[in-house]
Amino acid sequence: MWPFNRKGASGFSSSSTAEEVTQGIDGRGLIAIITGASSGIGTETARVFALRGIHVVMGVRNVTAGKAVKETIIKEIPTAKIDVLELDLSSMASVRKFALDFGSLELPLNILVNNAGIMATPFLLSHDGIELQFATNHIGHFLLTHLLLENMKETSRRSNSEGRIVNLSSEGHKVVYPEGIRFDRINDESGYYSYFAYGQSKLANILHANELSRRFKEEGVKITANSLHPGFISTNLFRHSFVNVIQNTLGKLVMKNVQQGAATTCYVALHPQLNGVAGQYFNNSNLATMSAKASDTELAKKLWDFSLNMVSA
Ligand SMILES: NC(=O)c1ccc[n+]([C@@H]2O[C@H](COP(=O)([O-])OP(=O)(O)OC[C@H]3O[C@@H](n4cnc5c(N)ncnc54)[C@H](OP(=O)(O)O)[C@@H]3O)[C@@H](O)[C@H]2O)c1
Ligand SMILES: *[C@@H]1O[C@H](CO)[C@@H](O)[C@H](O)[C@H]1NC(C)=O
Ligand SMILES: *[C@@H]1O[C@H](CO)[C@@H](O)[C@H](O)[C@H]1NC(C)=O
Ligand SMILES: *[C@@H]1O[C@H](CO)[C@@H](O)[C@H](O)[C@H]1NC(C)=O
Repeated sequence: MWPFNRKGASGFSSSSTAEEVTQGIDGRGLIAIITGASSGIGTETARVFALRGIHVVMGVRNVTAGKAVKETIIKEIPTAKIDVLELDLSSMASVRKFALDFGSLELPLNILVNNAGIMATPFLLSHDGIELQFATNHIGHFLLTHLLLENMKETSRRSNSEGRIVNLSSEGHKVVYPEGIRFDRINDESGYYSYFAYGQSKLANILHANELSRRFKEEGVKITANSLHPGFISTNLFRHSFVNVIQNTLGKLVMKNVQQGAATTCYVALHPQLNGVAGQYFNNSNLATMSAKASDTELAKKLWDFSLNMVSA
């Protein structure tokens, strides 16, 4: 990564790690949910949150793997507070069950990191009959956020502190179908192209964060929602992609490691530089430019209604 590590306005660069961007931040008393924390960026985010004293609730579809991650973190940080709850974002029933399980822990909620994701899968339908990447990367998180919002609002009101919602999007949001979101044939196999479908779901992540921010502002709620591109990081994400063949060779030169890969998430979730900053898109722990489609407020509203309709059906 050495040729690219010029520092941006935040003082951080592409080579900054999650520990570096959170140096000196005291997260004691905060509660965070991280989805997909059993692997890759999510695991490193959980570890660094725990290191900063944050009580972490891991939402994972593989509880065995989640518990193994928890044990590893506790070995390193014996004071860490970590819960592991089952969450399959491709199933609305599972998302609803997770929200109930989280509710029964009777914890406030300060930070939600919508991290879980899949990439470039063959055409598949979710449990609810929705194209799998859109279902997992967007609709599952849309419903989850929706179900946790009352808690987050109440937490922010009571403690008079800012809540934060962080969406893992991707530069892939710029590689989409010509119409951006294929509202009228979202679940059609004909014309399905796995990278465009990934881009579509990641565009949805940004539009969603933007529309939520707008709503929060309108309601006077002290919660921010932002999205980010974590970089090009060697993780399990590429299991369905041609990238997996270079991961252990060329990839080592051009990809970030996971400590660097979790930096932007941790920066956006925790850094005081971003107090009050909402509806923005980040890359390398610095502000970045989203595509024209991603900043389209009409498209954001349309997606909101479309998603709400889907989770209410
Ligand atoms: N790596 C990159 O270069 C890159 C670039 C741009 C954006 N991103 C974004 O970064 C985020 C994290 O990806 P990563 O690179 O850390 O990949 P990863 O190592 O594959 O981690 C993804 C996590 O999501 C979980 N997940 C997948 N489907 C799920 C479902 N239906 N329900 C619950 N959890 C599910 C996975 O669980 P299992 O382990 O059980 O499969 C895994 O824990 C994703 O949103 C991705 O789009 C990554
Ligand atoms: C769940 O994780 C465990 C531990 O990493 C692994 O052995 C198992 O194969 C995983 N199960 C599934 C269904 O992926
Ligand atoms: C993105 O963020 C919004 C909140 O701004 C959330 O409701 C939505 O579900 C998130 N999507 C994903 C997949 O991260
Ligand atoms: C991310 O930021 C770096 C500077 O830190 C810049 O060189 C790069 O082009 C940006 N990448 C994207 C995909 O925006």
